[in-house]
Amino acid sequence: MSKNIALITGVTGQDGSYLSEFLLAKGYEVHGIIRRSSVDFRERIAHLEGTPNFHLHYADMGDSMSLVKLVGKVQPTEIYNLAAQSHVQVSFDAPEFTADVDAVGVLRVLEAVRTNHLEKTCKIYQASTSELYGKVEEVPQNEKTPFHPYSPYAVAKLYGFWIIKEYREAYDMFCCSGILFNHESERRGETFVTRKITLAAARIAQGKQECLYLGNLDSLRDWGYAKDYVECMWLILQHDKPEDFVIATGVQHTVREFATLAFHHAGIELRWEGEGVNEKGIVVSGPAALVGKTVVAVSEDFYRPTDVVNLWGDPTKAKNELGWNPQTTSFEQLVQIMVKHDMEKVAADHVASVMRTNLAEYLEKGLVK
Ligand code: NAP
Ligand code: GDD
Repeated sequence: MSKNIALITGVTGQDGSYLSEFLLAKGYEVHGIIRRSSVDFRERIAHLEGTPNFHLHYADMGDSMSLVKLVGKVQPTEIYNLAAQSHVQVSFDAPEFTADVDAVGVLRVLEAVRTNHLEKTCKIYQASTSELYGKVEEVPQNEKTPFHPYSPYAVAKLYGFWIIKEYREAYDMFCCSGILFNHESERRGETFVTRKITLAAARIAQGKQECLYLGNLDSLRDWGYAKDYVECMWLILQHDKPEDFVIATGVQHTVREFATLAFHHAGIELRWEGEGVNEKGIVVSGPAALVGKTVVAVSEDFYRPTDVVNLWGDPTKAKNELGWNPQTTSFEQLVQIMVKHDMEKVAADHVASVMRTNLAEYLEKGLVK
């Protein structure tokens, strides 16, 4: 039997790290693309380095030559194209870079496969997004809902979606898009709203931060757990025909609801007062020193020029055709997992910082050599 060889772009990201674990457990040989950085940003996959079937290679989504050479060397049977400038707000500040990586980058991967004559043996998964629905034209959104991208990120991802479809039809390639709704975890980047909230709730509960500043509290998202979603990426490539799928939980919540629940799990009950930019989250009960204090406030800095405010996915097709369970981890469990992790992280960071301070003092006094 021929070996399953996966190449993952974006291996150092939230999804790349979970997908690597998932595929290694299935016996795959896993290759990941990393890019050079002046500091080490590989903490999500550090625990996998040294695993016999796990290999890392330098390449970049902006460098066709590196992708062509790597695909030729690895000879993958499956490519998971997860690499992206994935932050919607950042895409307004760096639209050209976002287009290069998130749009043309997809084309580079497809052409790397064709250049190496692997189009009949290598399946490709493209990390598409619910952001394509943008200024939504219907709720909930399914595979037939019209797209209306509403940020430079979403416009770039729309190109990725269509070029995948084009190569599927033009060259009979097995390439598919997973239209994934927001999925979060304890490995989520710290500037996405969920992780920003869970980390801040943990810091505020432990006296390390005074206030959390957020943007649009009314924004609605369909939030799932990233660990559950990577299974779907794999299932999409194991399906008997190449098709696109919506992956979502089918349940929607506001940013405000996420924050209320996150603070609750950190031991703080909030009440909300005011509207728009004047809205505040005030402590009703929790640590005595915090009661009556404003711990959440709104800052216009986090408003977007155009904001996507009503994402709600319909995962019926994935459920029926892939046998995937969208409710493996509930919203309540997801928030609890993230807060528990961040409460422990903040406490551990505190211990480490006290130890560093003590060590510096001991060294200064000549108490340790
Ligand atoms: P993430 O944590 O931001 O990870 C992005 C990955 O892309 C990182 O490994 C990053 O590498 C890599 N990357 C960025 N630019 C690159 C370049 N020029 N060359 C090579 N690698 C590059 O994102 P994620 O949450 O795991 O999401 C994975 C994919 O799914 C993305 O394409 C995202 O747009 C899409 N998506 C995510 C969600 C979600 O809710 N998480 C929903 C729908 C779609 P560095 O570590 O070096 O920066
Ligand atoms: N990041 C952030 N920071 N968002 C905030 C804040 C804040 O302080 N306050 C409110 N929000 C609102 C945003 O305006 C948006 O409406 C919502 O919270 C979610 O923002 P993000 O967590 O940044 O995620 P996103 O939905 O824009 O994008 C993520 O999900 C997409 C799938 O729908 C990313 O992972 C994308 O890569 C992914 O495609």
